Amino acid sequence: MSVCTVAVAQKKTTLRKAFKKSFLIGAAINIRQMNGQDSLAKPLIANEFSSISPENDLKWAVIHPQPNEYKFETADKYVALGESNKQFVIGHTLVWHSQVPNWVFVDDSKALVTKEVLYQRMKEHIETVAGRYKGRIGGWDVVNEALNDDGTMRNSRYYQIAGDEFIVKAFEYAHAADPKAELYYNDYNMYMPEKVKGAVRIVNLLKEKGLRVDAIGMQGHWHLNRPSLEEIEKSILTISKAGVKVVITELDISVLPNPQRNTSANITDVAQNSADINPYTNGLPDSVQVALANRYKAIFGLFNKHKDKIGRVTFWGVQDGNSWKNNFPARGRTDYPLIFDRAYQPKKAYYAILETVK
Ligand code: XIL
Repeated sequence: MSVCTVAVAQKKTTLRKAFKKSFLIGAAINIRQMNGQDSLAKPLIANEFSSISPENDLKWAVIHPQPNEYKFETADKYVALGESNKQFVIGHTLVWHSQVPNWVFVDDSKALVTKEVLYQRMKEHIETVAGRYKGRIGGWDVVNEALNDDGTMRNSRYYQIAGDEFIVKAFEYAHAADPKAELYYNDYNMYMPEKVKGAVRIVNLLKEKGLRVDAIGMQGHWHLNRPSLEEIEKSILTISKAGVKVVITELDISVLPNPQRNTSANITDVAQNSADINPYTNGLPDSVQVALANRYKAIFGLFNKHKDKIGRVTFWGVQDGNSWKNNFPARGRTDYPLIFDRAYQPKKAYYAILETVK
């Protein structure tokens, strides 16, 4: 057999094929990948994933920077790419306290607007963005990160102006804009029991109002040793008992020491970079590579066990070099949180995940 024949004979399966009967498997893609400038990512995204999420380009500040200015060029390419790959296309996100322009919340004198004005702006934004992709974006993170870790409401400007009713309005407008789209509430630290209870309270509030809500998103910005599988499993069960699906929306596993006191993924909770929290600038030692593979294997073992409750598992990025974790919570570090390396090659974690479905 020639080398070439051997390579063909051993051609591996893909995540997309392997998880076909379990749940959607996705990746968040960046602007270069949406534009087709990242030629190595292009076939990998198409072959390996059955769903895509937009890492930044559908966020309010990017797509609607000024009251009368929408920038749809990149988002249009993103949605078209997902269609040509026959992927389930995710919208992220309509209402979030980060990456949203200041003008949304203030009047000409810089004072907070009334809730009527805020709702008018939200309605126009959601109708325009979700309406534009009606029937093409399959599911929306309607509201992102509205909760504190203890399950109370985050004191965002949305909340200051309108109380928790802003969530109800966001789901109402999203459903009106695209009645067939799935609608999600999404947050980080969802392994925390109190926070999940807060998300269930939101789901129940929406249901009381007769509104559509399909799933609670657990972002899944996790670490090698935390959260525990037990914590994740409890949350999966709690969400499922609330009568909605679980979607894992932003999975990545940092291998670096965490400089935060907690496990926040709030993008303004930043820390200082220093050599002791950036140990792998010259490559990842094999022992850590193996630890990461084992961690992914255990987590996917749990996901497989609960595949009847899980609709989708999405990685937050395609390959390590793209990951936001290189700049969060400290800027300029070298992290290895994904399953493809900087040369777009599958890591041990990739094969470990595939093994869980054998
Ligand atoms: C991150 C992106 O990955 C970064 O490129 C950007 O600079 C900041 O936002 N939770 C979310 C995502 O819901 O939208 C965030 O994405 C990561 C945390």
